[in-house]
Amino acid sequence: MTGKLSTPFTELVGVEHPIVQTGMGWVSGPALTSATANAGGLGILASATMTYEELEQAIIKTKQQTDKPFGVNMRADASDAKARAELLIREGVKVASFALAPKKELIAQLKDNGVVVIPSIGAAKHAVKVSSWGADAVIVQGGEGGGHTGPVATTLLLPSVLDALGPNGIPVVAAGGFFDGRGLAAALSYGAAGVAMGTRFLLTSDSSVPDSVKQEYLSRGLQDTTVSRKVDGMPHRVLNTELVNALEGSNGARGLAAAVSNAVKFKAMTGMKWSTIARDGLAMKKAGDRTWQQIIMAANTPMLLKAGLVEGNTHAGVLASGQVVGMIEDLPSCQDLIERIVLEACERIDALAALRK
Ligand SMILES: Cc1cc2nc3c(=O)[nH]c(=O)nc-3n(C[C@H](O)[C@H](O)[C@H](O)COP(=O)(O)O)c2cc1C
Repeated sequence: MTGKLSTPFTELVGVEHPIVQTGMGWVSGPALTSATANAGGLGILASATMTYEELEQAIIKTKQQTDKPFGVNMRADASDAKARAELLIREGVKVASFALAPKKELIAQLKDNGVVVIPSIGAAKHAVKVSSWGADAVIVQGGEGGGHTGPVATTLLLPSVLDALGPNGIPVVAAGGFFDGRGLAAALSYGAAGVAMGTRFLLTSDSSVPDSVKQEYLSRGLQDTTVSRKVDGMPHRVLNTELVNALEGSNGARGLAAAVSNAVKFKAMTGMKWSTIARDGLAMKKAGDRTWQQIIMAANTPMLLKAGLVEGNTHAGVLASGQVVGMIEDLPSCQDLIERIVLEACERIDALAALRK
């Protein structure tokens, strides 16, 4: 490959290219993560949908498939977050990535033991907060991004975070809507230290998502995602499938009926006990102002995502996706993808430099 891009992010993490494959529940397992790592990017295992034991196995498997640095994404609010952090330390995992802001003590515990801490954030004030708590870098996800997402587009969120952190701030990795070398060159021009991509890596030959589901994604255009609150009560960018449209178009009794009907399907599919569903639902109802429909869906969200992304059930499942799905037309390997993105970014940067007189 000709051309190389060295940034504060590549220096911090010790990877060849300023490209991150984000942690995606049910999608980024050992195969995708190690393929990204072997291609010189930072691969991140998604552990929010894994038990502790599954995460332990996934780390071991990833280490068997690569000797390059990789990361683990986890929920900062998981009841066993401390134990998972200890596992990362014990296994020598290079990067801890978090979906929500981790506590100061958790950041300190990881950093003191040589783990690089990179939370994902959706607002400038959160970047400032985690930076003051010692985070080493942040991933900033704009509203275009897949999965749980915020309302502000990457083009505005990214400069707002960079401004808030100041010229000597921690490295910022831009996410939400990236798929090619033009995007990487643009992000670097803003002052970011790299890009992170979810949907683009889901659509590679190395991702374990069933081929029929990949084809469903590839057939979608730029306007074929919806930010729905009706899946689990939080804004969640997903493909606008029949199920999502039914939920979005419904209210009150109809919505509750749709949620219950899905709960019945997924109870049958997963063997989850009604008592577990009811217990989780009551706890959520006490904790917030979500409707019963949202609570039933929230309890099922991991299973709805699993049905779509693992079992290939595009009708009954939920398929998280960024708007960028409308720009993606192929299924390259991680190696080919990363190579072509870096090459194109270098070409763009050279072309821009040539504009100067
Ligand atoms: C299928 C899917 C699953 C995701 N799961 C998670 C997750 O478990 N944890 C997390 O922090 N972010 C998750 N995300 C968000 C991504 O990590 C990433 O921030 C986002 O996809 C970036 O936007 P892009 O899709 O435009 O590249 C998920 C995204 C997708 C598409």
